[in-house]
Amino acid sequence: MKKVLILFLAISVIGAIGVVLAQISGSSHDLRTYGTGGTQATSQICVYCHTPHNANTSARTSYLWNRNVRATDYSVYDGTYTDPLANNTTHTLMCMSCHDGTTTAIGGMINTPSDYDGSQNTVYVTGDANLGTDLTNDHPIDLVYKNDSEGGPLPSSTYNSSSSVTTAGIKLFTFGANTNVMTCASCHAPHNESGLSSLLRITADSSQLCTTCHNL
Ligand code: HEC
Ligand code: HEC
Ligand code: HEC
Ligand code: HEC
Repeated sequence: MKKVLILFLAISVIGAIGVVLAQISGSSHDLRTYGTGGTQATSQICVYCHTPHNANTSARTSYLWNRNVRATDYSVYDGTYTDPLANNTTHTLMCMSCHDGTTTAIGGMINTPSDYDGSQNTVYVTGDANLGTDLTNDHPIDLVYKNDSEGGPLPSSTYNSSSSVTTAGIKLFTFGANTNVMTCASCHAPHNESGLSSLLRITADSSQLCTTCHNL
């Protein structure tokens, strides 16, 4: 009986990981061949962002992060109704460790896998995916999403409630005392969970993504 249970658990774990791999594998966050002309720099996928051992110990990161993040915060857009949190969330720092085009090279992992060939040591994100180090010209992030029906600052005449946006598939996060925090990962799914273009959580077709939050 015990053996059967262990076998069942092993299959469930493999099954769950398989599902994640099936989605991130082949997506734009499958970085194994990024900038190498098609050759796999390592066989691993998750390792570009996470490591099971010797991860970044800074309180500015979480999720067993396998990269350095910028020491100083990025300035973000300050909306009419909300104020940005005092500091960037760990999500901003983690996404921007690659997407500012300078902080870490794609191969710049803290704990490199044993089969990594070194070919991405000087490869950085380029083009549109390089957002640069100034986020004041990007959609607001690192703020508390709540409309006035929930005691928050956003007017319900133009912003839907946080419960309705999360029901629709947007993710809001908790950081310390702050709940309902909107980050890069509110609109984007870093593991391509939804399989939509631009790694979005809700399709941008007919601007459905925008109208999920903006009651317009
Ligand atoms: C390109 C970077 C990147 C890659 C590659 C990546 N992740 Fe993540 N992962 C993130 C970020 C950023 C977060 C935090 C945002 C979030 O939860 O969506 C995260 C969060 C997580 C979490 C916490 C989720 C939760 O809901 O608490 C787990 C577990 C995880 N990743 C596992 C994996 C596994 C397993 C793989 C490989 C199959 C992987 N990740 C590949 C960036 C990445
Ligand atoms: C390990 C480096 C790394 C991290 C960390 C990372 N990305 Fe990326 N991301 C990339 C690379 C490389 C690409 C491909 C860029 C290209 O094709 O030019 C990419 C592509 C994307 C794209 C474009 C997808 C498409 O198909 O057009 C989006 C959106 C994106 N990332 C969002 C995020 C967000 C949000 C986070 C944090 C939650 C994040 N990334 C974290 C490296 C990273
Ligand atoms: C309000 C939703 C939203 C938030 C928040 C958001 N993005 Fe995006 N992002 C989008 C949409 C929509 C696109 C697709 C744009 C297009 O197709 O032209 C996109 C595209 C991108 C791309 C692909 C390059 C491009 O310009 O098309 C990257 C990389 C990216 N986002 C990273 C990030 C990072 C990093 C953050 C946090 C600093 C972030 N995004 C926050 C909605 C968002
Ligand atoms: C997860 C919910 C969410 C999504 C999705 C979203 N927004 Fe927003 N948007 C907000 C919040 C919250 C603010 C900040 C409001 C404030 O403080 O004025 C904001 C601010 C803005 C602003 C600036 C308003 C100002 O006060 O200066 C514009 C313009 C905007 N969003 C457009 C868009 C567009 C276009 C899309 C789709 C690509 C989009 N948003 C998707 C929540 C969202």
